[in-house]
Amino acid sequence: MNSRIAGTGGYLPENVMTNADLEKLVETSDEWIEERTGIRQRHIAVAGETTCDLAEKAARQAIEAAGLTEQDIDLIIVATTTPDRIFPSTACLLQARLDIHGCAAFDVQAVCTGFVYALSVAEKFIRTGSATRALVVGAETTSRIIDWSDRSTCVLFGDGAGAVVLEATDAPGILSTHLHADGAYRDLLTVPEGVSQGFAKMQAGEAYITMQGNEVFKMAVKTLGRIVDETLAANDMQKSDINWLIPHQANIRIIKATAKKLNMSMEQVVVTVDHHGNTSAASIPLALDVAVRDGRIKRGETLLLEAFGGGFTWGSALLKY
Ligand code: ACO
Repeated sequence: MNSRIAGTGGYLPENVMTNADLEKLVETSDEWIEERTGIRQRHIAVAGETTCDLAEKAARQAIEAAGLTEQDIDLIIVATTTPDRIFPSTACLLQARLDIHGCAAFDVQAVCTGFVYALSVAEKFIRTGSATRALVVGAETTSRIIDWSDRSTCVLFGDGAGAVVLEATDAPGILSTHLHADGAYRDLLTVPEGVSQGFAKMQAGEAYITMQGNEVFKMAVKTLGRIVDETLAANDMQKSDINWLIPHQANIRIIKATAKKLNMSMEQVVVTVDHHGNTSAASIPLALDVAVRDGRIKRGETLLLEAFGGGFTWGSALLKY
C-alpha cells in the first residue's frame, strides 16, 4: 500500500516582525540579515498563542483540502520541538481540539527535520496497514526558546504550522524516505535544558537556542548534498526527474547550494524563508502548502523534500504529488 498527500494546510501567526523591528532590539541591520540569510520578516506568536493553536488551524485546512472530515483521520503525528506541555503530547492536545477519539497520536522530536521524520513514520504506518489517513503536522513556537538579546540567533527563527493528510493509495505517492542522525554533534545546535536537568536554566531565564552558526552551515551544505545523492540513487532517478525542491527554510544560501547540487533553477525551488524565517519542523509543510495553493505544484509532479537540523538530524522524502 502506498500513501499520497491528499491535502495540505498552513497557518502563520498574524503578528509579523520585520528586520527593521529587530534593528530596535539588537545591533543588526536589514542588509546583514537579508544578505546572510535571505530573511526579511517572520511571524511571531503573541502571548497565549500556542503551538497547538497554530497546529489546529493548519490541520483543519489540510483535512478540508483533502475533502475529508476530522472523523476520517486514524493517526495523528505532530513534529515539534516547542510543545504546549511536557505531556500530554501536542498530538493528543490536537486530537482533543479536533474531537477525534481513539486513534494513535504522538509527537516526534527531530527539530528542523521533524516533519520529514513524521512523514516517514506515517508512511510506514500506512504501508503496513496500521493506518489509512494520517494527519502529519509540523508546528512550532520557536520564538519561545530564543534569546532576544542574541543577534546571532534571534534574527533567524519564526513561528508557524504546516500540515498534510497522508492517505493510502494504490497509485505512486511517497517513493522513499531517508532519515539520519548523529548525536555526536549535539552541542553545535541545542537548547541545553530539559526535564531531567531540573529546569535550572529555565528558572534563570537561560533556556535558549545556542548555535555555532558557521559550523552548522558547513555541515548542512555538505550533508544535504549527500542526502540528495542518496535519495536519487535509491529511486534510480536523475536530477532532471525532480520537478520541485521543497527544502527546509533555514538560510537562502543553504537552499541555493542544494539547488546548485541538483542543477536546478531557483524557479523550481519553493522559497518561503524570506517571509517565514526558520520555522523549524513547520517550514517544509508550510512551503509545500504555499506552492500547492498558489498553483505552482501540480498533481503527478515529483517533489524532493529535505531538511537538516539540531541533533544533528537530517532526512529527505521523494514523492509523487
Ligand atoms: N547582525 C549583524 N551582525 C551579525 C549578526 C546579526 N544578526 N549575527 C552575527 N553577526 C556578526 C558576527 O558577530 C560576526 O562578526 P565578526 O566577524 O566581527 O566576528 C559576523 O557577523 C559573521 O558571523 P558568522 O556567524 O560567521 O556569519 P555567517 O555568514 O556564518 O552567518 C548564520 C550566520 C546566518 C547563522 C549562518 O551561519 C547560518 O545560517 N547557519 C546555519 C543555520 C542553520 O541551518 N541551522 C540549522 C537549522 S536550525 C534548527 O535545527 C533548530
